[in-house]
Amino acid sequence: APATPQAAHHGRPLVVAHRGASAYAPENTLAAIDKARDMGFRWVENDVQRTKDGELVIMHDDNLKRTTNVEEVFPDRAPWKVADFTAAEIARLDAGSWFSPKYAGERVPTLRQYMRRVSRNHQSLVFEFKKPELYPGIEYQGLRVLRETGWLDKSHVRNRLVIQSFSANSVRTVHAVRPDVKTGFLGTPPVADLPAYARFSDQINSTHTSISADYVSAIHALRGPHGKPLEIFTWTVNDAPNAVRAAKFGVDGIITNAPDVVRRALRGF
Ligand code: G3P
Ligand code: CA
Repeated sequence: APATPQAAHHGRPLVVAHRGASAYAPENTLAAIDKARDMGFRWVENDVQRTKDGELVIMHDDNLKRTTNVEEVFPDRAPWKVADFTAAEIARLDAGSWFSPKYAGERVPTLRQYMRRVSRNHQSLVFEFKKPELYPGIEYQGLRVLRETGWLDKSHVRNRLVIQSFSANSVRTVHAVRPDVKTGFLGTPPVADLPAYARFSDQINSTHTSISADYVSAIHALRGPHGKPLEIFTWTVNDAPNAVRAAKFGVDGIITNAPDVVRRALRGF
């Protein structure tokens, strides 16, 4: 069944399944976003990197070791960087067994495969360019895939997509190329610097341990590049007390590996 839509920014924070429902299924796989969908979560988050032959794939680390069986399949290819493998090689890897035998055979999705599944699941996406400094021009490539999969159509851009990065340059590039797309800067800049970020970011997405009620208020007092109040999605909140703390601060979104835990904690909000 399609996920239940959740309204953004009206009282209760939006709950975003980090790398998919990654407490319950292997992160950044199609199984992880299907799991989020089955649990009733519309919003998911991902990480995007680039292969040796220029394909964009969904992976958090710039190294294949932690979340695949690459060492077994390619024992002589240390140090196993994503950028040293072709898409065809990566397609041979098992990205599920490390998590649980139940997920054996799960693959590393290409961005294209991933976007098609997000569409099919009627989900929405917080898309992260991970370590874009390693992959010059990745923003243009990512935007091209998003356009080709329908993700830059007006309806999607309006309320189903945020593109974020720890790299301010990357976020600035996305905003310059596609000013209609909602963007997020990952970090906790000093309050005095927030207006500069608000010129190209609609969101400031900070680790939950770095924020306070005052910081959230300072963000909300500013307006982003689309003239709307600047927002904050905080991460990675995996327990009830921290979810309640962030919600009390008034954050707009909570990014979590365990979306069910956060949803339960926020019932009273
Ligand atoms: O969505 C924010 C969060 O994912 C950033 O940290 O390392 O999990 O990509 P990381
Ligand atoms: Ca991420």
